[in-house]
Amino acid sequence: MTGLTAYVGFFEVGKPKKGDFVFVSAASGAVGQVVGQLAKIAGCYVVGSAGSDEKVSLLKTKFGFDDAFNYKSETDLGAALKRCLPDGIDIYFDNVGGATLDAALLQMRHGGRVAVCGMISQYNLEEPDGLRNLFCIVPKATRVEGFNVGGWFHVYASFEEEMAGYIKEGKVAIVEDVVVGIESAPAALIGFFSGRNVGKQFVAIAKA
Ligand SMILES: NC(=O)c1ccc[n+]([C@@H]2O[C@H](COP(=O)([O-])OP(=O)(O)OC[C@H]3O[C@@H](n4cnc5c(N)ncnc54)[C@H](OP(=O)(O)O)[C@@H]3O)[C@@H](O)[C@H]2O)c1
Repeated sequence: MTGLTAYVGFFEVGKPKKGDFVFVSAASGAVGQVVGQLAKIAGCYVVGSAGSDEKVSLLKTKFGFDDAFNYKSETDLGAALKRCLPDGIDIYFDNVGGATLDAALLQMRHGGRVAVCGMISQYNLEEPDGLRNLFCIVPKATRVEGFNVGGWFHVYASFEEEMAGYIKEGKVAIVEDVVVGIESAPAALIGFFSGRNVGKQFVAIAKA
């Protein structure tokens, strides 16, 4: 499901062109790690953000991101984006919303696309953050489009065939995070919101 999310969000909503500058947030996660690798296959320059130095290293070494930064240790997200993407962003694949989305909107190139996949930074807030930089989508003709994977299962067969090829050819690597036993599920779920997981979070249920 998360692989299909990455695939349709990047190709169908992001509409990449070779040489595009791509930014992915929650980039080491289940969706983000696949988006980054698909962006490289599509001939793009890709930068990711993640919440620890270990995850940043994983992005560059395991998943082939061109650059990455730890958003938790940056004091100015806009400055981090300018440093990593000095010519701006053609596609922002948004997994987190909030301050990261606001900073990315300012760095979009003319005609850029924001594929809004999720806003995990907002899910547990009593009051969602507001966006201050929304107006810049007007002069830059930015397309901001949300999508839900539930509406895209008709492309599953072609996705599966294409992605299986990439995995067999070693062009896409997958990192999963497995905890064992149903009793581990609550902590794993809570850990999702503090970035404890690295990649798709599974709970393995032992056989009786
Ligand atoms: N549109 C759809 O159909 C669809 C389908 C599936 C998933 N989604 C969405 O896609 C996004 C990623 O899902 P996933 O399954 O790939 O999850 P994931 O990235 O594997 O796990 C969640 C990650 O989000 C990051 N995070 C948590 N709180 C954050 C915050 N306040 N600010 C920034 N980052 C935060 C953490 O990584 P760090 O250590 O990097 O902070 C955490 O590890 C979520 O927003 C999810 O709701 C959408």
